[in-house]
Amino acid sequence: MSHKITFFIDGIEYTAKSGQSILQAADENGVYIPRLCYHPELKPSGSCRICTVNVNGRNMAACTTPVADGMIILNETEELQDVRRALVEMLFIEGNHFCPSCERSGNCELQALAYRLKIMSPRFPYIFPKRSLDATHPAIFIDGNRCIQCGRCVRAAEELDGKPILGFIGRGGDLKIKASSSEGLAGVGIAPDDHCVQVCPVGAIIIKETAYRIPIGQRSYDKKPIGSDIEAKARKSPTGAV
Ligand code: FES
Repeated sequence: MSHKITFFIDGIEYTAKSGQSILQAADENGVYIPRLCYHPELKPSGSCRICTVNVNGRNMAACTTPVADGMIILNETEELQDVRRALVEMLFIEGNHFCPSCERSGNCELQALAYRLKIMSPRFPYIFPKRSLDATHPAIFIDGNRCIQCGRCVRAAEELDGKPILGFIGRGGDLKIKASSSEGLAGVGIAPDDHCVQVCPVGAIIIKETAYRIPIGQRSYDKKPIGSDIEAKARKSPTGAV
C-alpha cells in the first residue's frame, strides 16, 4: 500500500505517494520538470535525460527515479537548465528541424522546450544528416528528419496499441525509426488514431492531409509555454500540497 512521503524541490517541501517517480510527484505538486521521452500513459524509458534533476548531490533522470522520503531535489538551477539546453541543442543539430515550415510548428514539444529554455542557437555545429521518409501508407507518414528517437511511438505501439509495428534500426547518430515491414508503413496495420501516431512529440509521425489546420495564434504553445498546464496546479493549491 502506498503511503505519503515528504520531499523537497528547490527548497520547498512537498508530499508524494511512495512508488511515484520524482517526475510524477513533481507533476502532482504543480512543479514542471522538462521532459521529452516521458509520456504519462507509457512506461518511462529514461532515454532523453532532459528531465535531469539533482538528487541529494547527484544528477538523475526524474522520470525513472522513485521519489523517497526526505529527498532533496534541485530542479530550476542554472546548471541543470544548461544541461537540458545542451541536450535539446544536440537534438536540433542531430536532426533536420526546419521549424518555420514544419507542420507541427506551434504544437511541437521540442520547439516549445527550446523556447522555454531560451535557446537562441545551438552551441554545436549542425550535422545535416541524411534521413529517410516513409510515405508508403495512404494516411500516415514518418519523416526521419524530425525524429528525436524518444521511442514514445515504439512503446505506445507495444504497450497501448498491442502491436509492435515500430522499432529502431542503426546505432548512435544513425538510429532510425522504422516500420517492422519490408513494405514500410504500408505493410503494418497502423491507423491515424493509434496511440503510436498520437504520442509523437515532434513532427516525425504525421497524419496526411491535416497540415496547418490550426491557425497561428491558436496552436498549443502560442499563448502558454510548455509545462504551464502542470504549473497551473500549483496556483490552484498555493501550499503545493497534494
Ligand atoms: S523524460 Fe526522463 S529521460 Fe526523457
